[in-house]
Parts: sequence; structure tokens; C-alpha cells
Amino acid sequence: MATDIIIKPIKDSKISNVDFSNLPFGKVFSDHIFQCEYIDGAWQNPIIKPNEPILLNPAAKIFHYGQSIFEGMKAYKDGNGEVFLFRPEENCKRLNLSAKRLMMPEIPADLFMDGLKKLLEIDSDWIPTTEGSSLYVRPFMFASGEGLHASPADSYTFIISTAPSGAYFSGKVTVLIEEKYARAANGGVGFAKAGGNYAAQFYPTQLAIEKGYNQVIWTDDNSHQFIEEAGAMNIFIRIGEVLITSPTNDRILDGITRKSILQIAKDQNIPIEVRKISVSEVVQAAREGNLKEMFGAGTAAVISPIAEFGYQGVDYELPELKDTYASLFKEKITDIQTNKSEDPYGWRVVV
Ligand code: PLP
Ligand code: COI
Repeated sequence: MATDIIIKPIKDSKISNVDFSNLPFGKVFSDHIFQCEYIDGAWQNPIIKPNEPILLNPAAKIFHYGQSIFEGMKAYKDGNGEVFLFRPEENCKRLNLSAKRLMMPEIPADLFMDGLKKLLEIDSDWIPTTEGSSLYVRPFMFASGEGLHASPADSYTFIISTAPSGAYFSGKVTVLIEEKYARAANGGVGFAKAGGNYAAQFYPTQLAIEKGYNQVIWTDDNSHQFIEEAGAMNIFIRIGEVLITSPTNDRILDGITRKSILQIAKDQNIPIEVRKISVSEVVQAAREGNLKEMFGAGTAAVISPIAEFGYQGVDYELPELKDTYASLFKEKITDIQTNKSEDPYGWRVVV
């Protein structure tokens, strides 16, 4: 390992307090975090230490100007106790794309990977093995440098924390197609995993929850005529046998699960179209009985079939099919992630 990491182990592990058979998503945290600081133009002081509150000056720019980005990944353990990550280099690349857009320092891939692998080694007992559970990994970076001048901070903190987690959604997923609010705009930061993108979603999502839906499907900010993505997932729509997803652009997060689905679909000879998809096309297909599936895809959500969508006051139910594309992709992807199948793509990385 190239990186010299100081290790400060926890005195008393908290693991015996955790019910691994009943894990929520992202609420229980493992013993340690990996942390390093960007000071005087260089990343320094990499350390693995107990997951405890951190001290920040009230003038830290994260609090005022929102320089904050993150990633979402998962670690899996197979029956032999071997630990795996899924396409982690993609997360590192995307973190650095986000960093660039938010005027934050990029993190070298070897620092990211060395810190992550060492952390997983130390907290490997925290990786659940029950079906549908995994260790959710949250790398994030924020402006710890101080000052109220509205300009980029001069120092930053990078942390990786991990949380043994169960499913992101419980029960049926119902969505409302958004007609007024937008999560992102042309030229903005929608393609970045910036914390503020999520804050901007909370109010419209709450309005949808009050109407009885779990999630919003975002449409383009200009016309609200075209389906883009959901709060934490890219969206796929199956009309007849054809699977359709929106092309990524500067409003949409370029999902790693989405990319993986497109590759598998190609190899399975599933007809796929990456193109703009209008709400009216989806509504018409639903009315004519041709709308077979809608599902969301993301690291946290894995592949989540959508049971119903609402648009302009009307609810449209999706049929309950037996052999779905969603279940095929879910099986193929989770089998690769958990070392249950061959990995023809080289996506699985042994820790
Ligand atoms: N879209 C948004 C807004 C997300 O937050 C996520 C989750 O990371 C995704 C899509 C799916 O991306 P990935 O498959 O890389 O997790
Ligand atoms: C992920 O899927 O990992 C994400 O980052 C989504 C998050 C908002 C839960």
C-alpha cells in the first residue's frame, strides 16, 4: 500500500449492540472512519480512527456556501469471508468530477482506494452477509477552511464512513411525476453528487409524500415534458419489449448502476434505447397497456421496481409481471457484486 495511514483503533467496539438481522439503511455506523485533510495545497494526515463527532469552526465554509460532495458505494462479503467492492474506480472518478465543478480539490485515486481498502479490512466484521444487506460506504468531502468571503475554502476534509445497511425502500415504490419543481438546471450541478442537490429535493418530495407517493420523478427543468431521474436513482422504462432510459446530461447523475444495466442489456440482446422519453409517451403506453415496467437503479436502491406513478391527478398502476427486466438485472448485478457468479466485465474488485 502506497499510503502511510495512521491507525488509531477504537477501545470498545460497538458491534455487539447491532442487530444484523434487522438493519435499517444508513443509520448504524461502523467503528472507524478514514479521514484526511487538504491543507496548503496537498492532501495530508491520512488516519483511520473511531467514528466520533468532529470539531469544526462555525465559520467553516461548508456551513455557509455548501461546498460538500459525496459518493455512495457498497462492500459485500461472500461465504468464504472475502470482501468485494463494485466498480470503485468509477466512484473515485465521479467524486473528482463533482470536486472540479464545486471548486474543491480532487483526491488521488490511490489515496481514495488505499484508505477505503484499509478501512474495510479493519471493519470487515461490520459487513453483513444476509441477503439484501451490505456495508454501505459513504466517501464525502467538505470545505473545512474558514471565512465568510463567498469564495472557495482553502482547506477541505475527506472522510469515508461505513454503515451496515438493509434495503433503501421498504414496500412498494410509488412515484409522482413532477410538473413544477426541478432538482437541476442546464449549466448547474445536477450531474455532480453535491449535497445541495439533495437538499433541493426535500421540499417537493415532502409534497409528494403528503399526496401518498414515496418519490418524485424529476422532469426537465425547462418544459417538464421529459423524464429525467428520481431522487436517488436513474429511471428505466419498458414499453413493450424495449427498455428506454434518458441520456445523461448536465442535469442527471451518471449512475454506475445505470451504466452496468446498459452493458448487461446489450449482452442479453434486450432492445435498449437511450433517448429522451416524454411523459406523454409513458402515459399513452400506460393507457394502451404497453407500459410493462418502470424501475429505478442506484447503489442504495439497487433496482427498485415502481408499482405506480401519478401524473396530473391520475394514478397509473404498473402490471405485476412474472419475468421482468428489473429482476433479471437485479440478479445479474447482485450475483456479480456478491461473488455468486462469474464477472465477465471485471467490475468486482477484491479488497
Ligand atoms: N441519481 C441520483 C440523483 C443518485 O443520487 C444516485 C445514487 O447514487 C443515482 C442516480 C444512481 O447512481 P449509482 O448507480 O452510481 O449509485
Ligand atoms: C446511493 O445510491 O449510493 C446514493 O448516493 C443515494 C443516496 C442519496 C442514498
